[in-house]
Amino acid sequence: MRQIINNADIIENKNETTWLYTLKVTINLLSHVFSSLVVVICVWFSCRSTKLTVIELHIVLCVLGYQLLMSQGILALSNFNSWSIYFKRRHRRCIHWALEFIGAILAIVGSIEVIIYKQEHFNTLHGILGLCAFIATMISIFNGTMTSLATKISSYGITGIGLTTASKCVHGVTGIATLFLAAGSLHYGYDKGSFRKWINNENFIIVLKIFTWFFTICVGFEFWIILVKRIKCKNIMPVDVSNQN
Ligand code: HEM
Repeated sequence: MRQIINNADIIENKNETTWLYTLKVTINLLSHVFSSLVVVICVWFSCRSTKLTVIELHIVLCVLGYQLLMSQGILALSNFNSWSIYFKRRHRRCIHWALEFIGAILAIVGSIEVIIYKQEHFNTLHGILGLCAFIATMISIFNGTMTSLATKISSYGITGIGLTTASKCVHGVTGIATLFLAAGSLHYGYDKGSFRKWINNENFIIVLKIFTWFFTICVGFEFWIILVKRIKCKNIMPVDVSNQN
């Protein structure tokens, strides 16, 4: 109940107009709808036969890792995200780390197993973008850990807000880059012969690509809003993070 009142206060304090609030909630809702559609269709394609091939397992792991878990991990931080809105900020942060970490593991395993399986490497745009997403994921995990450490260190009053702000910015940039590179790889993944044959409708392939870019842009947009707000908050009121909700 306390959290519900807090959220209502937050909205009122920020003088959010009704339409702006509605727009943000709608963007969040559409992100969930389109990402779910993309994930369900890719998993459905991969599980159409009883035995998973290397490529099918690759699709399941990469799509669940990047498009489901890592996207949800970002949305979990948003003040407008349906399923996490009533969690305290520190709990949302824990959920974010957990989803990002599990998502990254799935995506890394899904990429490594197909790289081991293939004879020739990175000779397609799909593969090159997938490799870039893979590298960006590793960097994200590393600087995500650094951001967490920087926040802890500054909460003990050891450093100023500069270190936390800088590491949050770098984490934000690599996080969004990972998401966009994975979306680029998926875009070219839809063009693979077996997938096209299964869908059997050129227009639907285009629709899937539009859905993928739409929700990726929405999630990226939310991430920037969250990041800018957090940085502004920190610069205005350097409070002890250990006291935050
Ligand atoms: C976010 C999603 C995806 C990522 C990040 C990703 C990433 C990758 C990577 C890194 C490779 C190895 C490239 C190489 O060694 O040259 C690869 C290969 C492959 N992927 Fe994906 N993939 C994704 C989704 C898909 C989807 C949806 C399909 C099919 C519908 C697919 C089909 C294939 C195939 C057939 C190969 C082997 C041929 C090639 O390299 O182009 N992938 N993928």
